[in-house]
Formats: sequence, C-alpha cells, structure tokens
Amino acid sequence: MDMVGKLLQQLLLGVIILAATTASIPNSNCERMCGEVEIPYPFGTSEGCYLDKPFLITCNHTFPPPKPFLDIDLPVVDISVPNGELRVSNPVALLCKRGYSTYKRNIATVDYTRISALLNLSSFRISETRNKITAVGCDVYTYIQGLDHGQKGFTTGCLSLCDQNLSVANGPCSGVGCCQTSIPKGATGYILNVRSLSNDTLPGGKHQCGYGFIIEEQAYKFSSLDFRNLKNRTTVPLVLDWAIGNKTCKDAQKNKTSYACKATQSYCYDSTNGPGYRCICSSGYHGNPYLPDGQDDSCQDIDECKLGHWKLACNATTTCINTDGNYTCTCPKGYEGDGRIDGTDCRPIVGQSNNKIISIALGVSISLLVLLVGTSWVYWGLKKRKLIKLKEKWFQQNGGLMLQQRLQHHTGSMDTTKIYSAEELKKATDNYNKSNILGQGGYGTVYKGVLADNKVVAIKKSKIGDQSQIEQFINEVVVLTQINHRNVVKLLGCCLETEVPLLVYEFITNGTLSDHIHNKSRSSLLSWDKRLKIAKETAGALAYLHCEASMPIIHRDVKTANILLDGNHIAKVSDFGASRLVPLDQTQLTTLVQGTFGYLDPEYFRTSHLTEKSDVYSFGVVLAELLTSEKVISFVRPESERNLATYFVSMVEEDRLLEILDDHIYNGSNAEELKNVANVAKRSLSVKGDDRPTMKEVAVELDGLRNKEKHSRKKS
Ligand SMILES: *[C@@H]1O[C@H](CO)[C@@H](O)[C@H](O)[C@H]1NC(C)=O
Ligand SMILES: *[C@@H]1O[C@H](CO)[C@@H](O)[C@H](O)[C@H]1NC(C)=O
Ligand SMILES: *[C@@H]1O[C@H](CO)[C@@H](O)[C@H](O)[C@H]1NC(C)=O
Ligand SMILES: *[C@@H]1O[C@H](CO)[C@@H](O)[C@H](O)[C@H]1NC(C)=O
Ligand SMILES: *[C@@H]1O[C@H](CO)[C@@H](O)[C@H](O)[C@H]1NC(C)=O
Ligand SMILES: *[C@@H]1O[C@H](CO)[C@@H](O)[C@H](O)[C@H]1NC(C)=O
Ligand SMILES: *[C@@H]1O[C@H](CO)[C@@H](O)[C@H](O)[C@H]1NC(C)=O
Ligand SMILES: *[C@@H]1O[C@H](CO)[C@@H](O)[C@H](O)[C@H]1NC(C)=O
Ligand SMILES: *[C@@H]1O[C@H](CO)[C@@H](O)[C@H](O)[C@H]1NC(C)=O
Repeated sequence: MDMVGKLLQQLLLGVIILAATTASIPNSNCERMCGEVEIPYPFGTSEGCYLDKPFLITCNHTFPPPKPFLDIDLPVVDISVPNGELRVSNPVALLCKRGYSTYKRNIATVDYTRISALLNLSSFRISETRNKITAVGCDVYTYIQGLDHGQKGFTTGCLSLCDQNLSVANGPCSGVGCCQTSIPKGATGYILNVRSLSNDTLPGGKHQCGYGFIIEEQAYKFSSLDFRNLKNRTTVPLVLDWAIGNKTCKDAQKNKTSYACKATQSYCYDSTNGPGYRCICSSGYHGNPYLPDGQDDSCQDIDECKLGHWKLACNATTTCINTDGNYTCTCPKGYEGDGRIDGTDCRPIVGQSNNKIISIALGVSISLLVLLVGTSWVYWGLKKRKLIKLKEKWFQQNGGLMLQQRLQHHTGSMDTTKIYSAEELKKATDNYNKSNILGQGGYGTVYKGVLADNKVVAIKKSKIGDQSQIEQFINEVVVLTQINHRNVVKLLGCCLETEVPLLVYEFITNGTLSDHIHNKSRSSLLSWDKRLKIAKETAGALAYLHCEASMPIIHRDVKTANILLDGNHIAKVSDFGASRLVPLDQTQLTTLVQGTFGYLDPEYFRTSHLTEKSDVYSFGVVLAELLTSEKVISFVRPESERNLATYFVSMVEEDRLLEILDDHIYNGSNAEELKNVANVAKRSLSVKGDDRPTMKEVAVELDGLRNKEKHSRKKS
C-alpha cells in the first residue's frame, strides 16, 4: 500500500512538473553553479529553482566540468541579471571547396562543402544592439532568414569582396575580406547560409573557405588569418535578450503574486526587444531584484561612503554618512549647507553674537567635559585590561607559539623579521579601508598601508578563522624567512595579536604581471625585451627555491597573478601561502590542490602529487602567456583552444608559432629567439613530469638566450 502511495505521489509530481510550474520564490538550497557558469535566479537548473519554463537551464554533468544548456542543446556561456542578457555558443556556417572541411559540427544540414547554421529559440530574442551578422571570405555573401517563434520572417545579409592583388586590412570589417550588418529586432532564431558570388571562383581563390555567423560585435576583430583559422571554429559567442513573461510592467503589476520584481527596492521596465519586462534594483541599491527581501542576493543598500562614490559629489571637507539608498554629507563644525558641490556646499555660519549665551554654554560644556573625561578614564582602564587579555588569546590562537617553535627549528633569520602591533597596522591601512585594497583571493585580502615612518607596505590579512588558513599563514612566514632573493617579495614582518593574522611585505609598486599582459593599454608597453627579462628573473627565483634555498621549496601556485613588477619592471615572485618546505628525504607531496586551474600540472590529476616539476609546468604556462598575451583559460576562444597550454603546444608542434604570438613582440628580426623561448615553454609543458627540464635548466637556457641577445646587439 505504501509503495502504491509513493508511486502515485511521484506520478502526481511528474504531472505537476509537466504543467510548467510558476515557482515565484526559489528554494534557498538551489545549486547556483553549473561547472564554471553561475546560474542566477530567475534561471535555475532544477524544479523550484527557476521562475518558469523559459528559464530552465539544463546542466549536463557528463562533461567535465558540467556544462549548462538552454533549450536542451544550446550551450550557455554566461548569464547577466542586471542587463537581462544571456551569452550562448552559436554555430558557424561555412562554404569550402569540396574536400577541405569535414569536421563534425553542430549544424542543421551537412554537405561536405556547404554547412548552414540554424538557431531556433523557444523564448528569448537575439540582441539587435550587441550582435552583428558577419561574413568572412573572398567574394562570398551570407544571408539569414529570421525566425519569429519558428516562423520565417525577414531576410537580410552582406557581401564580402577581395581584390586578389591587394592585401586585406585587419581590424574592423569593412567589406574587404569581411562584412557586417545588423540583425533586425525581435528575432527568436534564424537560418544562415554562405554562398559564393560565382561558381568558378568558389569561394575566394587561394583561401578556399567562406564563413558566415552571427557574433557578439565586441568579441570579433577581423584578421586575415581567419580565412584559415575559422575552419576549425565551430562556435562563436552570441548575446540574447531575456525578459519575464509577455506582459508590460503595467499589466504585470496588477497581479502581485505573479509579478517578478520581488525586491521592495526594485522597479520594472518594459523589454525593448520583444514582449515582457525586466526588473532592476533602485538606484542606490545593488543585487538581484527577482529575489524577495531577506534572501542574501536581493537588492541591498550600496555603502557609498565605503566605496568612495561620495567624493565625486561632496565637498572634500565633509563627513559622509551612509543612509538607506543614499548618503548624506555633513559639513564640518561652524559650517552649514548640504555639503554637495552642486547643492548648497559648505558655508561658514554667520551672525553668532550673544556673548552671554556663549559663556553659559561654555561653562556648562566644560563641566560636562570634566565629568566625561573622568568616567571614560575609568572605563578605558577596564577595557584596556580586557583588550590585553584578548590579544594574548589571539596570539596563541593564531599560532604564535607554533611560529616560535617552527622558527627555532629552522635557524633562520627572525632578526630581520619584525613583529608589528595591531594598532600600527590598523593606522597604516586607515582601518582596513576598502579603498586601500590591492587584491583579494581565496587566501584573504591584501591592503596597501603606510607605516608611521612613511614606508609603504602591503599587508595581507588572511580570512577569518579556520585552522588550515592559520597553518598556511605560519607556512608562509617560515618559508619566507628562509629566502633572501632579489626576485622574491620580501617579508618585513607580521602581527599576531589581531583576530586574523597579518603579514607585512615590501610594497611592489607596479601591480601584477597578469595585469600588465591582459590590460590592453599596458600590454603594448611590455616589450619582448622586458618580457624575456621577467621570464628570466622568475625562472631564476624558482630555480633558487628548488635548489639553492637552505631547504628545497615548491611554490605550488606559480601564475602571472603571483608575479609582481616593481617600477623598473623587476619581477618579484609572491604568495607563498601554498608553498611547502620539502624535507630532504621526500621530494613529493600529497596535497590539496592549490594551483589555479589552467596552470595546474596535468600529472596532478593522476597522481595527486605536486613536485618541483609542477612548478616547471606552471612556469611553462607563464611563458606561453608572455609570448601570446592570451588568457590561460578563455571561454571566448573555441573549445580546442580554450586551454592555452595545450593549444600553445599544438601550435608550436605544427610550426605555427607566428600565428599565435602577440602582435607587439614580433619585430621581424627576433623570430629565432622567440622560437627558442617557445621551445623551452613547450618542453616545460610536457605532459609527463620526467620529460620536463628542471627549473635550473630552464633558467640557464633563458639566461643564455638573453646574453647572446645582448652580445649580438653590442656587435651591431
Ligand atoms: C549530456 O551530454 C551527452 C553528450 O553530449 C548526451 O549524450 C546526453 O544525452 C546529455 N544529457 C542530457 C541530460 O542532456
Ligand atoms: C522551430 O521550433 C519550433 C518548435 O519547436 C518548430 O515548430 C519550428 O518548425 C522550428 N523552426 C524551424 C525553422 O526549424
Ligand atoms: C593581379 O596582378 C597580376 C600581375 O601583377 C595581373 O596579371 C592580374 O591581372 C591582376 N589581377 C587583377 C584582378 O587585377
Ligand atoms: C552554381 O551552380 C549551381 C548548381 O551547381 C547552380 O544552381 C547555380 O545557378 C550556379 N550559380 C552561378 C552563379 O553560376
Ligand atoms: C584544424 O584541426 C585539425 C584537427 O584538429 C588539424 O589537423 C588542422 O591542422 C586544423 N586546421 C587549422 C587551419 O587550424
Ligand atoms: C502570454 O503567455 C501566456 C502564458 O505563458 C500564454 O497563455 C498567452 O497566450 C501569451 N499571450 C500572448 C499574447 O502571447
Ligand atoms: C495571479 O497569478 C497567480 C500565479 O500565476 C494565479 O494563480 C492567479 O490566478 C492570478 N490572479 C489573477 C487575479 O489573475
Ligand atoms: C540622494 O540624495 C541627493 C540629495 O538629497 C539627491 O540629489 C539624489 O538624487 C539622491 N540619490 C538617490 C540615489 O536617491
Ligand atoms: C568646502 O568646504 C569648505 C569649508 O569646509 C569651504 O571653505 C569651501 O568653500 C567649500 N567648497 C569647496 C569647493 O571647497
């Protein structure tokens, strides 16, 4: 009987699910990540977690990592709630001379030479402002037939011509080699074809293929290499607009239970691309307007005072006070006004005259002051005693004793490592003001600080509490006190009397190597000479850690974000939180994964061991990054190129290095040197640790290159 009951229940549940539920408030225990993609409400991957059927994302766990899909088979790249946008991977159509491209594609009709693309969405629309219909090739045109809920609508397209005797210019699509046109509003899909202008030149002479696709405009910059490279690119990013339901705000607000803007501090606006509406947090608030108040991610007050927004609007002498949804600026004593520069600003208060009143007021305030000082003196004394006790507790809890012991073991140089007081560091960072944050990570937060002697330092505040963090912290102190190397960030001291342990480093002025490579304006300033010098210095530092430090040290988290640059572009390796001293009888360590995805030694997945050769692998990735200026993992790149390490190795093996080099570093005469460095990188990226060179060998090899370079310069 019980079994039958359960069965019935499940059947009923199935019927309810089929009937497209209207879960107006999501469960609080919904899975909000699918692989590396965040799935914010109104989207969701399981029953009770999404608003209604169009917002169901299918998370397919057969892929490592799991992959999200819209409408079952359209891969989702990311979802933005504030903009009402959704980025998906969209198929590329092509037309090739018979016999050239036969790779498997996710497409509608396959012919060896002609592949068209089809997108047929159930609810959302293709953003007409963010995407462009694009054709690439010589003497080819692409045309689309728009779909509106599966029904055919408008037709549009563009034509790309080439003069075979003129080279085509890279950059924006101009109609030579590449053309672009807009897509009309409101399309829920399209059928796209590429055709050649005439059958004999099919298509575009020596380049063999023509391509057509709809792509996020910002994600595409034409290069003549695309004539060849696009052959292997099956998908490109496409931006969709999503909206709630098919009603206007005005109509939707009539029914409070189905109205989706649940946060009190939110408002509604009509979609401009098709029916439906969207919600947005009121100005002065941020968060997810589709969640009701009280849920963590719902619209919350922005603290403008902490973020420093107020400095733009208010007189600099005012004090900022955060209010719900806004902030007020208070003028200093003796001034009146609203403190806002475009308001009444701060003006001296005029016309205080009555001396008698003033003297009475003065008398009263002096006596009050005396009273206040007396009581607070007593109170302060008591509090101070309590604080001293608390500090002692923290010192112990933070491993002060453990640290003392460890340092005694390693007869290192604690003499150069200073112990700072909590007050000193609090003052230096302006009470850990947000504006002083230099960086944040899994380990905690790094602040910029100015000590009393005007020395600028970086202060690392580890995350509150758990014991493993504290052990890491002690590790870092012990490791760093063992090291004295020009290219390793110097630890100046630490502080143990606060609730969370603090480390004080020399301040490296010029940010991380990662910033320099991936910030477009900075990247061009980072010449090949500088890059090679940085590579050499980093290799030297790592080689030193591996063999010359008093005990071998594996860094375990080598990446460009952990290589800092000072004003003269001298590299400083940082972040030893994950590092370990290797006892001499043991060269492998079983460990928790610390390395960042993309830099992590592939052998680790098999063996769960990190070795010195793992650092060599990570360093190989850094070299590849220096050569290409590409991100280590990028979802904008096609799937086969997503992981820079494997993509780089395959290109070098195919002798196609020049195609992936950063444009700025190849100057026509340094090809040989670039090739040599690429080969070092390739060997460092060997899948098997044994095939990789040691860090020492890498350092020596890079050093040799550089000296040769200098030598030949001097001769010429
Ligand atoms: C997940 O993907 C695999 C491989 O593409 C496919 O065979 C399977 O049907 C998918 N599962 C779901 C639930 O869509
Ligand atoms: C798009 O899908 C709808 C329903 O799923 C279907 O009726 C329609 O025929 C499809 N359109 C095309 C062009 O495949
Ligand atoms: C290209 O140049 C070659 C020789 O320079 C000439 O014979 C040919 O006619 C030119 N083709 C076009 C399309 O101008
Ligand atoms: C190209 O060939 C196809 C059939 O092979 C024919 O239908 C089409 O009209 C031809 N186009 C031109 C421009 O010659
Ligand atoms: C495309 O990929 C195939 C197999 O992955 C490879 O053999 C071929 O060289 C690649 N072609 C281009 C132009 O990238
Ligand atoms: C609006 O959506 C509802 C339910 O999703 C549907 O029943 C109705 O037909 C739609 N109305 C229009 C005008 O599309
Ligand atoms: C309001 O919406 C809810 C949920 O969609 C529905 O059950 C209810 O009938 C609607 N009320 C009115 C007055 O339309
Ligand atoms: C905040 O207050 C100022 C002055 O009262 C006003 O001008 C401004 O519009 C308010 N901002 C918001 C977001 O309410
Ligand atoms: C700012 O406030 C000060 C007084 O605190 C006042 O003297 C000054 O005129 C105000 N305005 C500007 C633009 O600084």
